Amino acid sequence: MSSFWGAFHNAKLVFVGEAPGQQEDLQGIPFVGRAGKLLEKLLSDIGLKREDVFICNVVKCRPPNNRDPQPDEISACEPILIKQLEIIKPLVICALGRHAAQTLLRDSTGINRLRGHFYNYHGIPLLPTLHPAAILRAANLLPDIESDFQLLKQKLMETQDG
Ligand code: URA
Repeated sequence: MSSFWGAFHNAKLVFVGEAPGQQEDLQGIPFVGRAGKLLEKLLSDIGLKREDVFICNVVKCRPPNNRDPQPDEISACEPILIKQLEIIKPLVICALGRHAAQTLLRDSTGINRLRGHFYNYHGIPLLPTLHPAAILRAANLLPDIESDFQLLKQKLMETQDG
């Protein structure tokens, strides 16, 4: 059964988003709003369900009015994220959007340049991709995130074979 704790301990793939939005804040579950629905669709395209992966955010509380998280908020929450990744020890990490990618990689390069390539996060392959909410605002970016999900699928197959 893919219980919350089962998924937590066994997830081979972890997604790291930015921060809870309104729906996420109300329900206490990451990516349950429109961006979450798109994430579920992208997962299903590569044969996965949300129960198969672990989804979390860099910032653990909702920034007021959906503003960008501020550097001090990111620093305050980062130890929790690091602990989550240490406990789960996923085979692959996917950073959704600029804040997750730049925080985990300690790299201020823009997401459009970072995305689509794997980086090494403490020995774990990490793929930055666009944030699903960005795709909801600009549907022309859908092929980019779809091709990144194919890279994730390929990397998971390689790491599980190897
Ligand atoms: N956007 C995020 O980055 N995280 C969520 O949980 C929801 C929307």
